Amino acid sequence: MCGIVGYAGPQASAPSSRPVDVALQGLARLEYRGYDSAGVAVIDDAGVQVTKRAGKLANLREALESTTATGGQVSIAHTRWATHGAPNDLNAHPHQGGRDGELAVVHNGIIENFASLRAELEGEGYTFSSETDSEAAAHLVAREMEQAGDLTEAMRRAAASLEGAFTLLAVHRDAPGTVVAARRNSPLVVGLGVGENFLGSDVAAFVDSTKEALEIGQDQVVTVTADSVSVIDFEGAEVTDAKRYTIEWDAAAAQKGGFDSFMAKEIHEQASAVADTLRGRIEDGALQLDEMEIDPSVLRSVDKIVVVACGTAANAGAVAKYAIEHWCRIPTEVELAHEFRYRDPVVTEKTLVVAISQSGETMDTLMAVRHAREQGAKVVAICNTRGSTIPREADAALYLHVGPEIAVASTKAYLGQIAACYLLGLFLAQVRGNLYPDEIAALMDDLEQIPDQIQQVLDSSAQVEQLAQDMKDASSVLFLGRHVGYPTAMEGALKLKEIAYIHAEGFAAGELKHGPIALVEEGQPVFVIVPSPRGRHSLHSKVVSNIQEVRARGARTLVIAEEGDDAVLPYADEVIRVPATRTLFAALLTVIPLQIFSCELATAKGLDVDQPRNLAKSVTVE
Ligand code: AGP
Repeated sequence: MCGIVGYAGPQASAPSSRPVDVALQGLARLEYRGYDSAGVAVIDDAGVQVTKRAGKLANLREALESTTATGGQVSIAHTRWATHGAPNDLNAHPHQGGRDGELAVVHNGIIENFASLRAELEGEGYTFSSETDSEAAAHLVAREMEQAGDLTEAMRRAAASLEGAFTLLAVHRDAPGTVVAARRNSPLVVGLGVGENFLGSDVAAFVDSTKEALEIGQDQVVTVTADSVSVIDFEGAEVTDAKRYTIEWDAAAAQKGGFDSFMAKEIHEQASAVADTLRGRIEDGALQLDEMEIDPSVLRSVDKIVVVACGTAANAGAVAKYAIEHWCRIPTEVELAHEFRYRDPVVTEKTLVVAISQSGETMDTLMAVRHAREQGAKVVAICNTRGSTIPREADAALYLHVGPEIAVASTKAYLGQIAACYLLGLFLAQVRGNLYPDEIAALMDDLEQIPDQIQQVLDSSAQVEQLAQDMKDASSVLFLGRHVGYPTAMEGALKLKEIAYIHAEGFAAGELKHGPIALVEEGQPVFVIVPSPRGRHSLHSKVVSNIQEVRARGARTLVIAEEGDDAVLPYADEVIRVPATRTLFAALLTVIPLQIFSCELATAKGLDVDQPRNLAKSVTVE
């Protein structure tokens, strides 16, 4: 969702090193988060200068070309994903505050008490010009600055009286070399440079300038100048233990590298993504998960697992259920995180909650994590983003190591999440003694073959690409699967909906005759994910029957099947082959043709594959 950038550096006049340019570069790096307007504020001799425009960054760049208001030592900038008020110039950030517009803020999140604050501030004579909740924060910090005369203290007082979720950055005419920021329930990270410092919603905002970062904790205020960074909490106490870390991501990882879209690039990175997730986890023949900082005795006492996640991450969780129950014999539920805490779930100290989130900032998942911990459950986070909130609040964190995922539609993180869930399941089976060491070793051996098999699927993508080109005018596509093929069908449908805007549904194939088969008419495209014929015979033969059922009603059957599975041939209009692996592990292969299909089809339709309409990369509001 909203992207935030802050910068404090030396006074620079050379183009591209001015604070305004640094801010724009940061915003460009955060475009992937999704936005509908953008803006920047700097401070020059004339005071706070704000430029903002609805639409893409190009509109902001054009507006900046015709202004001289680009000087100073600091900048704050923002890409907005509208919540309060339409995506127009007025509602875009930064918002100015104070009686003379002497302060500017950018804000990510939702301020829940903004209506009462606005009424109070209007009563005191502050003038509002937007429909946003954020403008109330601007005037509030400005008012506190009038009284305190210090921007850090003003931010601290204001932040302490805000309710809801916020990352708030402010600059003030009277502190022209300083950016102050506060955060509660919304992401913020500091980039530590030499003679310059950065603020960002995530490290992508500054990773091409510095790899050194500082985590800002919940309810903390950070004050940044060109050569200093200091942190206090909302009570005013100095924070001395803010965690410093080195960013592992390469700046090049956040570029397209010759592909048409980030999504295409990320799909083609999946062999190494899974290899990186698995790397270094086996030592002396045993599975090592050093990050599992939960006592083995606690893991042995677990009597239920609840996976909480949203969207693609929830589909990865649904795959995890099949693996964990099979290997560990622990009842496992998968719950959409936004439903979890509202249904009074049965969670005890013996429940292990697994929170899956690529970004680590999804508010629905974060709230589920907090609820679970309040009930006494231990939480393991499966996450791709170091330093993000969910792994920091969890009892243990398993990182994916798949590198930054820029496209809104998740692909390589999905495969990384599934691989990490397999590792977690095998680790639990090892700790609890559900599987013998040689069984775990055999499973790991097969898992380690998967990256090469992924590469084989990627190398034979031409057939699916052609299919997507041919089907670019399709208005509805169905996806069917059983066992781990069911979440794969859900994921295939989600990809097509979100980037190609085509009606798509994923079903458990067995559910078909209980209703959805009524949708099937002449020519209806139906993808069917077929489990290995070398697995349970009844599972394979049931899915083959499902293909026959839809074909008999006129469906065009697009079948994803293991190499050598000839039983599908009589009923398939098209067969897409994947290499043979265990039934459980096929989830890492069969989804790839579906990802390629969506990406290619959306590209053929001329759509913005990486930034689909209405969507944000990380959903930081509930
Ligand atoms: C994926 O393609 C989606 N855009 C979306 O469903 C995403 O997976 C979901 O919002 C969860 O995000 P997270 O993994 O960052 O928590």
